[in-house]
Amino acid sequence: MMNKIFAAACLLAAGTMLWGQADEAKLREAMKQIGPTCSGLAKKIAAKDDSAATDAKKLQGWFGDVHKFWKAKAAADGVTFSESAAAEFKTISEQAAAGKWDDAGASFKKATATCGGCHGVHREKAADGSWKVK
Ligand code: HEC
Repeated sequence: MMNKIFAAACLLAAGTMLWGQADEAKLREAMKQIGPTCSGLAKKIAAKDDSAATDAKKLQGWFGDVHKFWKAKAAADGVTFSESAAAEFKTISEQAAAGKWDDAGASFKKATATCGGCHGVHREKAADGSWKVK
């Protein structure tokens, strides 16, 4: 509800600029969760820890949001990277739940190939050292 009011106010006040900033803040929020969960997942797969399935599911969900961002931005490569990430994390959650740890490890490599792929084209470092969307 608050979000809707805020979004409407932004639209009235400043048009598309504020919208863009709000969207990038959402993407950053997702990435900040994706980073540590993803490195944690690598360790869990190596340790054959059942909770890997839950983490992979969370990652799948965040990449669903990331996907929406690139779709709204009409950036086809971003859409493809985030779709493959979501699909691979879904597969990992199924493989982990079934105890197929070697398969999960192989899928994890495919999932994390999307990180570098997208960062290479769509992420750049700002002057203050923070990351931003390109
Ligand atoms: C479709 C594009 C895309 C994919 C796929 C992607 N990222 Fe990102 N990521 C970005 C962009 C753009 C930024 C810079 C935006 C920002 O950080 O504000 C970013 C920033 C980050 C950051 C820095 C967050 C911050 O601002 O402190 C981390 C950590 C991160 N990504 C982790 C990952 C991991 C891990 C994966 C793979 C599992 C991944 N990302 C996949 C686009 C992507």
